[in-house]
Amino acid sequence: MHGRIPEEKIQEIRDRNDIVEVVSSYLPLKATGPNNFGLCPFHHEKSPSFNVNAARQIFHCFGCGVSGNVFSFLMRMEGLSFVEAVRRLGDRVGVQIERETLSPEEQRRRHQQVLYYRINEAACDFFHANLMRSEEGKAARDYLKKRGYGHEIAREFRLGYALDRWDGLTRNLAEKGFEGKDIQTLGLTRPGQQGRGDYDLFRGRLIFPILDLHGQVQAFGGRVLGDELPKYLNSPESPIYHKARILYGLYQGREEMRRTGEAIVVEGYFDQLALHRAGFPQAVATCGTALTEEHAQLLKRYAKKALLLFDQDEAGRRATFKAMDVLQAAGLPAAVITLDEGDDPDSFLAGKGAEAFRHRLQAARPVMEVFIDDALARHGASVEGKAKAVEEIAAKLRGLTDAIERSLYVRAVAQKVGFDESLLQAKVSGRRPSPPAQRQEVRAKRPSSATPSAPASGLRAQMMLLYLLLREPQAQVRVKEEGVENLFLDANIKELAEKILNLPAQETPSAESLLSLAVDEAQKDIVRGVLREDAAAFAEEEEAIFVDCRQAVAKEKLRRRRQELNQLVQRAESCGDQPEMARLQAELMQVNRQLK
Ligand code: UTP
Ligand code: MN
Repeated sequence: MHGRIPEEKIQEIRDRNDIVEVVSSYLPLKATGPNNFGLCPFHHEKSPSFNVNAARQIFHCFGCGVSGNVFSFLMRMEGLSFVEAVRRLGDRVGVQIERETLSPEEQRRRHQQVLYYRINEAACDFFHANLMRSEEGKAARDYLKKRGYGHEIAREFRLGYALDRWDGLTRNLAEKGFEGKDIQTLGLTRPGQQGRGDYDLFRGRLIFPILDLHGQVQAFGGRVLGDELPKYLNSPESPIYHKARILYGLYQGREEMRRTGEAIVVEGYFDQLALHRAGFPQAVATCGTALTEEHAQLLKRYAKKALLLFDQDEAGRRATFKAMDVLQAAGLPAAVITLDEGDDPDSFLAGKGAEAFRHRLQAARPVMEVFIDDALARHGASVEGKAKAVEEIAAKLRGLTDAIERSLYVRAVAQKVGFDESLLQAKVSGRRPSPPAQRQEVRAKRPSSATPSAPASGLRAQMMLLYLLLREPQAQVRVKEEGVENLFLDANIKELAEKILNLPAQETPSAESLLSLAVDEAQKDIVRGVLREDAAAFAEEEEAIFVDCRQAVAKEKLRRRRQELNQLVQRAESCGDQPEMARLQAELMQVNRQLK
C-alpha cells in the first residue's frame, strides 16, 4: 500500500520524472504536439496507438485500453509493485525514500525472492570455485581450455563446474544453512526416493549461470564434458526463472547492443560465448527454447535490429522463420546471418576467425528475403511449386506493416517467379483485382463535369497535350512513359488520349476518324476544339504543357486526399480516437502545405 510512503514524496518523484522520457527509454515515440505515439508495449500492434501525453503526464493505449501515469507504466513494464516503481523512479532522479512499510504478504513474498536469489548466488559461487580451483574441477578446466576459453571469460560469465557426485551442491548449501525445500523449488536438487536424501540436478557438468538484467542469478544451464546424454540440462521454471523472458548474455552484452543497434540471436550458450570472445558481445542466446514475444520485447529495448544466427540445418531454418513471425509481430526488423552448412557460430569462429565472421555479419540479409528464396527453392520450379511458394510468401508479406517495403517485395517476387505483379499485390492486400477493361468503362461514363475542381488552365493544357499527341510522335512516347493517368485529369480527354495512343497507323488521322473515336457530344466537342487549334501557337510550349498537366493531376490527387482526410478526422473525432486524429491532422497539414 502506498499510503505508507509520504504523499509529498510520491508527488515529488512523479513531478521530477517526465513520463515521455521514461517511456522513451523503453520504446521509440514520435511527437505530434503534446502527444507522443509509439507501438504499445503491452499488446501487439502494427500501427501506433499508444499515446503518451506530455502535458498531462499520462499514457493511454487506444488499442488495448491500458492507461496510467509514470508509476503505472513502470509497474506494467517491469512487473513491479507500486512501491518498487516509486523507489526505482526515485533513484532515477536522486530522491530517496527513507521508510517503507509493506503489507505482510508482500513482505513475505519479497523475502522469499531474496532468499531464492541468495541460494542461487551461493550455488553459483560453489560451482565457480569448483571450476577455477578444485582438484575435481580439472576435467572441466581442461575441457574449457580445449574449446579455447581461459580464466577471463570463465570469470566474466561466472562459469562453473558441478562435481560428479550425487550430493555436492546439496551438502554445500546445507552447510550454508539453506532449507532443502527452497533449494528444490529452484530445481537445484530433487527429493530422494524411499527416505533417501535430496540429490543434485547438475552432476559432472560445466555450468552456465543465467543472469538477469541486474546480474542476479536466475537459473543455470549445464553441459556434459563428454558425449553423454542429455548434452544440456537446464534449471526448471521457478518463482524467479521464466525462460521465455530471459536471454543468456544480455547482462554482459546490452551495452554493445545499444551502441551497435544490433542484437545477434543464437541458440547455444557456447555460441554466445564464442561470439563474445571474438569481439561480438552483442550476442544473446535463448535458453533451450524458441524465441518468444517477451524475448522480442526485451531485445527491442536495446536494439533496432535482430540478427538471427541459428544452426545451419533444417531445425535452425525452421527456428529462423518462427523467430521471423515473432519479431515481425513485435515490430523489430530482422536479418539472417548465414554460415556454411553444418557450422554453428562456435565452430565457424574456431575454424575461420573473427574477420570472416564480420563479413558474414555485414552480408546479413533481411529475413523476408531469405524466406522468399527458401520458399521458392523448397517448392521447386514447376508451375504448381511456384504457385504454392507464392501462396506462402503472400501470407508472410501480408504481415508487413510498411506499405513501401511490402510493395518492393511484391515486385521482387513477381519478377523472380514471372508472375503478374498486380495479381500478387491483390493477394497480399487481400483484394481482388478488377480487370482493366471494366475500370475504363467506369471512367468513360463519368462526364467531364465530374472533375469541376480541375482548374481551367489544367484543362487547357490537357487539350494542348492531346493536340501534341496527334502531331508529335515523340510526345506519344513521352506520354506512354509518364503514364496517361499521370498527365490527364479530365476523364473524357484521358479516354481520347488512350484511344489515340492505341491507333495503329503512324500517320496523322483524319478529322473524321478522330471524331469517330468520341463516344458522346462532350468528347466530340473536345476533338473539334483540338482540331481548331493553331499549331504555331504552342510549338515551343511542349515542356510547359507537360508540367501543367502533371501538376493538375498531382493537385487533384492532393485535393481528394484532403477531402478524405477531413471526413476521416470527423469520424475519428466522433469516436474519440485521439491518436488517429493526431495522425490524420498531421497528414492534413502536410497535404495543405503541398497544395500551397
Ligand atoms: P546444441 O546441441 O546446438 O549445442 O544446442 P551447442 O550450443 O552447439 O553446444 P556445443 O557446442 O555442442 O557445446 C543448442 C542449445 O539448445 C539447448 C541448449 O540451450 C543449447 O545451448 N539444449 C541442447 C538443451 O537445452 N538440451 C539439450 O540436450 C541440447
Ligand atoms: Mn556448438
